[in-house]
Amino acid sequence: MRLSAILFSQGFGTRRECVGRVLDGQVSIAGRVCDDPDEDFGTDGLVFSVEGREWPFHEKALVAMHKPAHYECSMKPRHHPSVMSLLPAPLRTRGLQPVGRLDEDTTGLLLLTDDGTLIHRLTSPKKHMPKVYEATTRHPVDERQLTALRTGVVLDDDPAPVAALEALAAGEHGLRMTLTEGRYHQVKRMVAAVGNRVDALHRSAIGAYRLPPELAPGQWCWLDPAALYASR
Ligand code: URA
Repeated sequence: MRLSAILFSQGFGTRRECVGRVLDGQVSIAGRVCDDPDEDFGTDGLVFSVEGREWPFHEKALVAMHKPAHYECSMKPRHHPSVMSLLPAPLRTRGLQPVGRLDEDTTGLLLLTDDGTLIHRLTSPKKHMPKVYEATTRHPVDERQLTALRTGVVLDDDPAPVAALEALAAGEHGLRMTLTEGRYHQVKRMVAAVGNRVDALHRSAIGAYRLPPELAPGQWCWLDPAALYASR
């Protein structure tokens, strides 16, 4: 693939801007400045640098973000900045979008991708991709609440009960819930339906992938989709 086309595919601007970056000497590969926009490179395992920052080539991009509180998952946020503002410009330009949504006050694992097929695989209720949430509750968690969450509760927008795949106490005011659907405010509404209240909510895992402890709030890392499915 031509170098300028590589940059374009990875979100480094318009075709003309990408040619300009190469001619300007902003791009290097394996320590060599590459200033010919038409030079051909294999993209498999390719790592290139733009203005000194390394970028691994990804035909489709998937990243994991540690979403901080007070960021919105919407592309058009209303009251707080968008999580998109935490990504570097090339990832925004190439069209990454959040896979599902976390509430503005929810923290934890958020995936973003430009791969439409993957978005469908991860969000389709039929695919049953488990998501693990850690809730801090206003009132103590008891066995009756846990049993009701596991067997199913009715939410106000659907007469069919929704059940957690798993619901465990984590301390007196803590609850770990695994859900395979992603309805609006689902954890908060399920917990309210059993007579408690969520004061804080954090998503710790999606499928087989756990939020890495070293990924601080606001940070992101590249993710191989296989990590979501590994050894389940
Ligand atoms: N359930 C909620 O209530 N809020 C979230 O952000 C995610 C799941």
